[in-house]
Amino acid sequence: MQARLDDVKAQLRIALDAAMAGFPKGELADAMAYATVGGKRLRAFLVMESARLHGVADQAALPVATAVEALHAYSLVHDDLPAMDDDDLRRGMPTCHLQWSEATAILAGDALQTLAFGLLASDQIGDAEARLRLVRAFADAVGAGGMVWGQALDIAAENAAEPLDLKAIKRLQGAKTGALIRFSAISGPLISGDETGPLERYAAALGLAFQITDDILDVTGDENVTGKRVGKDDAAGKATFVSILGLEGARDEAGRLADEARSALDGYGDAAENLRELARFVIERDT
Ligand code: IPE
Ligand code: IPE
Ligand code: MG
Ligand code: MG
Ligand code: MG
Repeated sequence: MQARLDDVKAQLRIALDAAMAGFPKGELADAMAYATVGGKRLRAFLVMESARLHGVADQAALPVATAVEALHAYSLVHDDLPAMDDDDLRRGMPTCHLQWSEATAILAGDALQTLAFGLLASDQIGDAEARLRLVRAFADAVGAGGMVWGQALDIAAENAAEPLDLKAIKRLQGAKTGALIRFSAISGPLISGDETGPLERYAAALGLAFQITDDILDVTGDENVTGKRVGKDDAAGKATFVSILGLEGARDEAGRLADEARSALDGYGDAAENLRELARFVIERDT
């Protein structure tokens, strides 16, 4: 898995730079480039491996992986804004709005999102039907019924009188984090026109395991390793998997979900070994 992840990271860096190369030089373009530095690139990895499992070449999948990471970068820039989580550290660097300005960070996020949708129109992905399937699914995943909705629920929960229960938090996280992970995981069969079912089941479990681990790291993580502040969820009074299940309960649940994710891949045999390893990595990571 590590070799493939390194390879995906290298391909992605080139593709991100190429996608942004034509923009007018200046603070906006600089802030966009800044926001795309670093990161684990797990969503890009999901796209590339999902594609490979469905006979889609790297070259066809790469614009999709680039779109997903551009959109993810936008979501982090906006998530860190003073009006949202008000964070000062991201991927080991000052957050975009501190490095530049709030206005530039908002605009860089806007433009990264637009860039992402444009990338899904790339003809190297495949025929027009395939690209339209991607655009439709991507819009569903990241908009007002997906990621942005999850962010809205997350912010609303900070001010709610009652803490969220487990069901409500799963709904919130399924949208906030799960929807983009799901899109990434099913992008291969979306391009090839195959059945998405097994990868949907994989992604549902993986996405939850991923967010539970994010919540755990907010409590137990080391800022020098995670590259972002810790202890923020509790300070903001956020209901998280840890606040509801406790640390041990959250760890158990993440482990159970990682096993569930791995089982969903049985039908793919050995070809899905990288995705099985990813499920383990997602819960064992310290960053
Ligand atoms: C962080 O995502 C934000 C969440 C959705 C929890 P990642 O942990 O994947 O962030 P990077 O891309 O590696 O920085
Ligand atoms: C961010 O969730 C999710 C999105 C950006 C959609 P968090 O607020 O938990 O992410 P971190 O912990 O700041 O990375
Ligand atoms: Mg947040
Ligand atoms: Mg945050
Ligand atoms: Mg978090």
